[in-house]
Amino acid sequence: MAEIDRYRPEDRRQVEALYRRVFGPDAAEANRLRWDWQYRRNPNVPADGPLIWIAREGSTVIGQYAAMPVRASVSGQEIAAAWGMDVMVAPERQRQGLGDVLFRTWDRAVGASLGLGLSDASFRLFKKLGWPVVGPVPCLVKPLSRRALRRPSWPMAVNRFVSYVTLPWVRLVARTRPLHGEVSTIRQFDDGFTRLWTRIGGRFAFAVRRDAAYLNWKYIQTPHVRYTIAALRRDNEVAGYAVYRHAQEPRGRVTLLVDLLTDPDDHAGLLTLLRWVDREARAADSDKIRTFAMHEGFRKLLRKSGYYPVKSTMEFVAKVNAVKVGADFYKSTDLWHVTLGDSDQDR
Ligand SMILES: CC(C)(COP(=O)(O)OP(=O)(O)OC[C@H]1O[C@@H](n2cnc3c(N)ncnc32)[C@H](O)[C@@H]1OP(=O)(O)O)[C@@H](O)C(=O)NCCC(=O)NCCS
Repeated sequence: MAEIDRYRPEDRRQVEALYRRVFGPDAAEANRLRWDWQYRRNPNVPADGPLIWIAREGSTVIGQYAAMPVRASVSGQEIAAAWGMDVMVAPERQRQGLGDVLFRTWDRAVGASLGLGLSDASFRLFKKLGWPVVGPVPCLVKPLSRRALRRPSWPMAVNRFVSYVTLPWVRLVARTRPLHGEVSTIRQFDDGFTRLWTRIGGRFAFAVRRDAAYLNWKYIQTPHVRYTIAALRRDNEVAGYAVYRHAQEPRGRVTLLVDLLTDPDDHAGLLTLLRWVDREARAADSDKIRTFAMHEGFRKLLRKSGYYPVKSTMEFVAKVNAVKVGADFYKSTDLWHVTLGDSDQDR
């Protein structure tokens, strides 16, 4: 029978070897590069070390549940929550109930247990264990060039035809619009962002606390990707931000709008940030901008700015333990703020 307890520094080599077996050498190498940042430098990591549980058989590591601790605002109350990630069971020990025990161990220890962008196996296990399914997190795309609508699965002739017939529409939605407000790029989130969160965090029915310490860790100190951050200021006070990066994909260049925040009622502020991102994406020669947004108010403004919904594969499960929430809480997610920047989705 396996024994489950917390991760110890001397487990590192065995955990890395197991990761390589379960996820393959490329993912293992990427994980090695991120590990210290992801599990030790997170400002919410508890004093007794990374939030990782290990399943052992004697001295052999046969499974892991690793989590990212965050503070979350749930209906106006702040609680300790954790995103589940990098969960694995040794191939020869899968489907014998070990995952079940690991998931429950994590859930018992945290105020809310959250999962985003799940593999088929873990999504099924979450559902089997009765976690509320609140996703997928909607995905929206804004076309900027006639290559925006290309799909790798279509033959080139079809792609060319689609580009040709949709060009007038793409030109219309991609046109430049004026900025209202002071936007500038920053290399550090200062206390103004914590004040912004203190002012508006309670407006979301669910959102991870986006204070300066979290934001600097999540978007400035990342070893594996480099983000650009645009800050919106009004009357010398921070009113919002957008985090984005440009990437090359098989059928063109994309700007990923990874995270954004304003007061949900500050429509002018959000539109200004979106227009800034449009300009940056165009300057980077992107064919489209892609984002994930759960909040209905933000999505409405995204649609108004030329984004349109596409199929999302970013599944989302959430279970709140620390405060009492009704079944309705999980059914009406219009005021939940979840983006590609949450959990470890953008890797
Ligand atoms: C996900 C994982 C940790 C589950 O651990 P486990 O010990 O196999 O899980 P359990 O035996 O407790 O639970 C089994 C249940 O999980 C789901 N499940 C596990 N593996 C599955 C698979 N390959 N396909 C479909 N469902 C699967 C099913 O709901 C299954 O129930 P069933 O056997 O009655 O159909 C394990 O399968 C694993 O390491 N997978 C590879 C890595 C991975 O996908 N990690 C998740 C990243 S988000």
